[in-house]
Amino acid sequence: MGFVHQAISALRIILNPSIRKSSINPQSSFNESTIVAALLSITLAACGSDGSPGPSGPSPQPPASSDTLRAAASAQGRLLGTAVQSSFLSNGQYDAVAGREFSYLTAEYEMKWNSLEPSPGADTFGAGDAIVAYAMSRGQRVKGHTLVWHGSTPSWLNSLPQAEFRNAFERHIRTVMGHYQGRIHAWDVVNEAIADDGSGLRDTVYRQKLGDTYIADAFRLARAADPQARLFYNDYGGEGMSAKAGRIYDLVSDLISKGVPIDGVGLQMHVSANNRPSDDSIAANMRRLAGLGLTIHISEMDVRIAGLPGTEQMRLDAQKAAFHDIVRVCVLEPRCEAITFWGFTDAHTWLTGDTPLLFNQQYAAKPAYTGVLDALRGK
Ligand code: XIL
Repeated sequence: MGFVHQAISALRIILNPSIRKSSINPQSSFNESTIVAALLSITLAACGSDGSPGPSGPSPQPPASSDTLRAAASAQGRLLGTAVQSSFLSNGQYDAVAGREFSYLTAEYEMKWNSLEPSPGADTFGAGDAIVAYAMSRGQRVKGHTLVWHGSTPSWLNSLPQAEFRNAFERHIRTVMGHYQGRIHAWDVVNEAIADDGSGLRDTVYRQKLGDTYIADAFRLARAADPQARLFYNDYGGEGMSAKAGRIYDLVSDLISKGVPIDGVGLQMHVSANNRPSDDSIAANMRRLAGLGLTIHISEMDVRIAGLPGTEQMRLDAQKAAFHDIVRVCVLEPRCEAITFWGFTDAHTWLTGDTPLLFNQQYAAKPAYTGVLDALRGK
C-alpha cells in the first residue's frame, strides 16, 4: 500500500471509533502494526518522503520489525507491555529494547499519587509526561497506574479530616485523569483493595475515611474525568482460583450489578517459577471474569528464580517455562488484551536480589524471552 493510501486508512481508523476499538481485536484485520505503519506514512507525507524532521520535531522510529515481541503480540491482537522509569529512557540500551519490543508502557511509579502530588496541590507531571511522550513517539499505548493505592498514598493525606480527605481524593482523580485525558488507554483506578487472605476489603486509609463505597466512587469519578479511558481494578494473589480471586470476582460483579463503570481486571502476576498458580486455574479465573464482560490484563508479570534448586541453566529454563505457559493462557483467552511485565531488564527490577525479567543485566535476551515469543506465536 502506498503511503497516501495508508494515510487515508490511518485517518479512517483515527476518526472512526468503531474501527479504532476493533484495532486490537484478534478478528480485526487492522492490527497495531497497520496503525503504526499508517501513522508513520502520515508523518512521512508531512515531513517529506525521506523522513526528515518536520516542523514539529524529530522523525519517528521505524516500525517494529516482525521479529519482536510487540509484533508477535500484535499479530495475535494483543498488547505487550512493560513498566518503565522515565530516567532510564535516555539510556541507549534501555531505549532500544523498550522501543523495539513493547507496544504498551506503564509508569513503574511516576504516575502514583505520592509521586504526582508530594505536597498538597503540587501537581508534578513531568516524569509521567516524559513517559507518555516517549510512548507516543514509538506508537505505544500507555497504562495509567494507579489512582488509588494504599502503597502510594502521599503522607500529607493521612492526617486530613474526612471532608478534606474526600475533596483531595476527588480532586486527585479529576486532575490526574484530566491532565492525561485522551492519552491513556486504560487506568488502574483502584489497586490492591482486597485483603491478602481474601477475607474482605483491605483496611486502608481510603476505607477508613470514605467508607467501603470508596471503590465505586473512584470508578464513577474516573469515568466522568476521562470517558475514553478503560477503567481497571488491579490486584495480586488472585491470578488463579484462590479465595482472594473469589473476593475480587465478587467485588467486580457487585460493581457491575450496581452500574458502576468498570471495564477490566488486572492480574498482577508476580510469581515464582516453582510457586505459581496452574495454567488451568489462571485460565478458569480469566474465563469467569470474561463472563462478566470484562477485559483482562496480565499487568505486572515477573518470575522469581533466586533460591530455586539446580544449576543456573535449570533456573533459567524453569523461568522460561513459566513465562511461556502463562503468556499462552492469555493468548488463548479472547478477552485477555494485554500482557505487561514489571520491567524488562534484570538491571532494573523492584525485586532486588532476583533476576525475574526477560533480559539480563547486560540487556541480552534470556531463555524467557524465547518462551514469551513462542507463546505469542501460538507455539
Ligand atoms: C512497585 C514499584 O516497582 C517500585 O518501584 C515502587 O517503589 C513501589 O511499587 N504492585 C503494584 C506496583 O501495583 O505498583 C508495585 O510497584 C509492585 C506491586
